[in-house]
Amino acid sequence: MKGLILSGGKGTRLRPLTFTQAKQLVPVANKPVLFYGIEALKEAGISDIGIIVGDTKDEIKQATGDGSRWDLNITYIEQEAPLGLAHAVKISEEFLKDEHFVMYLGDNILKSGITSLVEEFQQKKPNSLILLTEVPNPQMFGVAELEGGRVVRLVEKPKKPASNLALVGVYMFDAHIYEAVKAIKPSWRNELEITDAIQYLVEHGFEVQPHLVTGWWKDTGKLEDILEANRLILETLSGSNLGHVDDTSKINGQVVIEQGVSVKNSIIRGPVIIGENSEITDSYIGPFTSIQNNCKIILTEIEHSIVLEKSEIVEVGSRIDESLIGREVKIFKCPPKPSVYRFMVGDKSEIGIK
Ligand code: DAU
Repeated sequence: MKGLILSGGKGTRLRPLTFTQAKQLVPVANKPVLFYGIEALKEAGISDIGIIVGDTKDEIKQATGDGSRWDLNITYIEQEAPLGLAHAVKISEEFLKDEHFVMYLGDNILKSGITSLVEEFQQKKPNSLILLTEVPNPQMFGVAELEGGRVVRLVEKPKKPASNLALVGVYMFDAHIYEAVKAIKPSWRNELEITDAIQYLVEHGFEVQPHLVTGWWKDTGKLEDILEANRLILETLSGSNLGHVDDTSKINGQVVIEQGVSVKNSIIRGPVIIGENSEITDSYIGPFTSIQNNCKIILTEIEHSIVLEKSEIVEVGSRIDESLIGREVKIFKCPPKPSVYRFMVGDKSEIGIK
């Protein structure tokens, strides 16, 4: 069995971060979202993986490499434009040949992995296995309608959803999917939708088996979902300390402190991860915070947030909460007079002041 991970697309809902970075490389608990997918496939015994890449291909290739780090073979498949998930399947036929495959959306994380699902697919051999989960906002997803446990209809982002069962971004197919992706037409958003391709399978008598996901699942396309995924992953980490924590600091709960980190006169309340060579001085780092490598947090309180590499936050008056701070960002206190805010902020940024 092969794997196909989709890591193209635009990432418009995560601007401004995605002006300069692929959305699949935004870190969750200091690891790119994409790597969770790669590791889930590896754990399920899949070692031949195609990765769909678009405009951000250089960055994705640089971060992921040839797969040898995971003992995997990675082949990059270039998609000329984000023409849809089914289009990605269409252009991958040469790589996938007639093998069964798992398609995994590169911005999705599933808590319990996919190993048991891959086994189920291999044993029962339906033409397709789809993952569904109940969501409060089904109009944001592909939605499935079931009757007596069978899939009868699938609609992409319906205005009036017939159920609250969303399609999770992991799908399994046999080679009949090529017939479907070649037969369907682009949707209102001008994409070849995988949802429509699966609907084609249903209508043409192929077996599409639904599987309800019970553990958590996150599509990390939006800020609140990234923060939530970060929280859920941090909760699973066990603490460790490879850095230096001085005697006046307090570490509570599960805190991962990586090499070269220095913590001075600070309180860190886990779950928290602090990346290599970061400096935390006279600060409070609260639960569900990930700080990447080479950051400086000085005289600042922060929690439930993600700070990307080489950022500096110095002497911020109020506690920072539910924030995603990009790379090489500087947040600092202005001199007392005149009393001003001073910004140099990129396009589509968001700043909340009190
Ligand atoms: O997350 C689950 C949802 O994913 C499903 O419920 C929907 O049925 C499915 O269409 C998809 O919806 P999204 O609108 O969230 O898909 P998005 O455009 O975010 O693309 C998902 C991933 O695939 C993302 O990593 C980008 C990549 N992609 C996307 C497109 C459209 C590609 O590599 N190529 C593409 O052409």
